Amino acid sequence: MINTTKRVTLTAMSALALIGSGAHAQSDTVKIGVILPMTGQQASTGRQIDAAIKLWVAQNGNKAGGKKVEVIIKDDGSLPDATRRLAQELVVNDKVVALAGFGITPSAMAAAPIATQSKTPLVVMAAATSSITEASPYVVRTSFTLPQVSVGLAEWASANKIKKVVSLVADYGPGYDAEKFFAERILFNGGQVIEKLRTPLRAPDFAPVLQKVRDANPDALFVFLPSGQGAAFMKQFGERGLDKAGIRLIATGDVTDDDQLNDMGDVAIGVVSSHHYSAAHPSPANKKFVEAFQAANKFRPNFMAVGGYDGMRLIYKGLDTTKGAGGDALVTAMKGQLFESPRGQVLIDAQTRDIIQDVYIRKVEKKDGQLWNIEFDTIKSVKDPGKNR
Ligand code: PHB
Repeated sequence: MINTTKRVTLTAMSALALIGSGAHAQSDTVKIGVILPMTGQQASTGRQIDAAIKLWVAQNGNKAGGKKVEVIIKDDGSLPDATRRLAQELVVNDKVVALAGFGITPSAMAAAPIATQSKTPLVVMAAATSSITEASPYVVRTSFTLPQVSVGLAEWASANKIKKVVSLVADYGPGYDAEKFFAERILFNGGQVIEKLRTPLRAPDFAPVLQKVRDANPDALFVFLPSGQGAAFMKQFGERGLDKAGIRLIATGDVTDDDQLNDMGDVAIGVVSSHHYSAAHPSPANKKFVEAFQAANKFRPNFMAVGGYDGMRLIYKGLDTTKGAGGDALVTAMKGQLFESPRGQVLIDAQTRDIIQDVYIRKVEKKDGQLWNIEFDTIKSVKDPGKNR
């Protein structure tokens, strides 16, 4: 028997290596360990993914691969030290067959070494820095990457006479990805990012950067901020009169987040964004998903919810293939999965373990008194451009 009590890290680490040999294979129950920010600044991500996981289980039952599935949800408050500790406890004490969740990039990065040491598949349902899938061969992603959505928006901007751009991103991994890939494509198309601004991940103040945007007077402001910050940003953008000053706002869909869109007011109308999911995506599969989600939760699903829902699909179908076994067999069974998500058709790239998906260009419109991201253009089957560079 492995002694798995909360001792020093060294004991836990050697236990991690042993777990990888398949300690959970004999049991009738498989456990999935989900780590999410249920509290703190990123709590909306936790609330959305938690609701989506519960919807998946309500619709698909609690059995996969002939075993009973138990989902354990832990709150890391989006603090990477807590993520690491919880991942370790879930692997060593609970012997989970897979880890999942991960609201922000630093959390996913903190847990990746534990996935490697214990050979536990780690499904990233939210975080979106390109390099996360390279942090461990056990990482598989059902969210998206910032390069994946930023390049298409730069193309749209260039095609629509936007030449001089200021960018504004959150000052960490996904922000750097958005800033770099957007700027490179704009430059390639003959335009330019004339100023690159960044705001802190925690408690950002948008007033000083918005003043700089005003002074620079670009054709457009390109923005990436993590889910949860969009409404506060949009309010200040309007209050400072940037919309009236003729500065066009374009953004990744994280900013016109379906979770907050209706709180943003009319200043959001007309904002063009690019993303992999809109609650208004006009497919029968999405209509079914949104209706069931709203009936269960009384709020609208956003892209985080879809990452969680599809992540559960990935794990369930993987377990069906392995008959409940984890480790290398389960990662292999996740690679190459092709399915219809509420967002459209998706493929888990067998080489990169990242998601290949359509990216949509959308515009915020008011319909029946509610704001929606209405898709008007599609870039088919986009692979993460951040890989192999
Ligand atoms: C991330 O930290 O990777 C992240 C979080 C929220 C987003 C996008 C990326 O909306």
